[in-house]
Amino acid sequence: MNSTPSLNFDFQKNPKAIDDTKRENFLKNPGFGKIFTDHMLQIKYTNGTGWTDGKIIPYGPISLDPAVCLFHYGQEIFEGLKAYKTQDGHITLFRPLTNAKRFYNSALRMAMAPLPEAIFLKAVEEFVKVEKNWVPDSSVGSLYLRPFMISSTPYLGVKPSPDYIFMIIASPAGAYFSKDNEGVSVWVSEFYTRAASGGTGEAKCGGNYAASLIAQQEATKNNCDQIVFLDAAEHQWIEEMGGMNIFFVFDDGSLLTPPLSGTILPGITRDSILTLARDKGIKVREERYSVHQWIEDIKSGKIREVFACGTAAVVTPIGQVKSSRGEFNINGGKPGTLTQEIRKALVDIQYGRSADPYHWVHKVI
Ligand SMILES: Cc1ncc(COP(=O)(O)O)c(C=O)c1O
Repeated sequence: MNSTPSLNFDFQKNPKAIDDTKRENFLKNPGFGKIFTDHMLQIKYTNGTGWTDGKIIPYGPISLDPAVCLFHYGQEIFEGLKAYKTQDGHITLFRPLTNAKRFYNSALRMAMAPLPEAIFLKAVEEFVKVEKNWVPDSSVGSLYLRPFMISSTPYLGVKPSPDYIFMIIASPAGAYFSKDNEGVSVWVSEFYTRAASGGTGEAKCGGNYAASLIAQQEATKNNCDQIVFLDAAEHQWIEEMGGMNIFFVFDDGSLLTPPLSGTILPGITRDSILTLARDKGIKVREERYSVHQWIEDIKSGKIREVFACGTAAVVTPIGQVKSSRGEFNINGGKPGTLTQEIRKALVDIQYGRSADPYHWVHKVI
C-alpha cells in the first residue's frame, strides 16, 4: 500500500535558531516572503514504500541530483495557507483541509503521488506547533505556510518520477501589497494567457507561475501592480490575476466572479467570499464577463467596485485598470464599501474576532 496514515515527525532543533529579540523585531514588519522561520518539514515518497521519513529539521539548502525531473520538466506543485494568532492567544489555520484537497488534486493533474489529506493536515499542524513563536500578532499579519512537493528521481526520460519530496517552509507575512487595502492598479494582458482548456490552470503548479511572469513584467512596464489574464481561446473573457481571483461589484449591489472553468485556480478565499456574500443576501453570479463589457460598465457607472482575493492578498481593492484601450478609475481609485465589508467579515472570522458558523477555523494550539 502506497500510503502511511500514521506518519510521525522526528524533530531536530535548529542550533542556530534566531534569538527571541531578533525574531520579535522581524515580526514587527515582516513584509512578504522575505524571511524564513528556523525549521522546515520534509516527508519522502518512494513508489512501493509510500510516505516515510517525516522530519522537522533546521531550515537550509537541500541537495538534489542535477538530473531530477523537477529541474528539467518542472514536475512540482505547491500550496499557500496561513497560521493566525487569535486575540485569546490560540494559533489557528483557515480551512486547511481545503488546501489539502487542492494539493491532492494538483498532484493528480501533474501525475505525482497524491499526499493523503490527513498527512498534509498533520504535517502542517506539527510544523506550526514547532514554529508557533513565528506567528505575528494579528495587528501585523500571519505566518504564511508554503507546502510544496518536488519530483526527486534522477533520470532524463519524460515520464512521471517514482519518488517525491514533500516539504513545508514558512515566512511571517504582513501586507502583500505595499499599499495594502488601498486600490491597486491592474494591467489587462491582451496577448499573454495563463492557461488553456485541458491545461494546468486549476492546478497549483510552478509552471503556471513561471509562464505568468512575462505578463507581470508587462504590467510593471505599464506602471501597474498586477496582471489580469483573459481566456486563451478568444482573448476576451476575464479569468483571474497572477496570484488572485477577481470579483466585480455592480450598481445593484450584486457580485460577479468568473466561473471555475478548469482554467482558473479554485481559490479558497474566492469560495469563502461566495459563501459569505450569499449568506448576507447578496446576489452572486459565477459567470463569464468580457473585458469589453467591463470597460463599458466602468464608463457607464454600472461597475461600482472591483477587488482581488487570495490567501496572500486577502481582499484587495482594484482602483485602476489599464489596457491598450485606455485607463479607467474605479470608485475614484478608493476601496469600495462592499469590498471593505467583505474583507472585514472574512478577516474577523480568520482572527477569531467573530463567530465561525462554517467551521472554517481549525485550532492548532
Ligand atoms: C493564480 C491564483 N489564483 C487565485 C489564488 C487565490 O487562491 P486562495 O484564495 O486559495 O489563496 C491564488 C493564490 O493561491 C493564485 O495563485
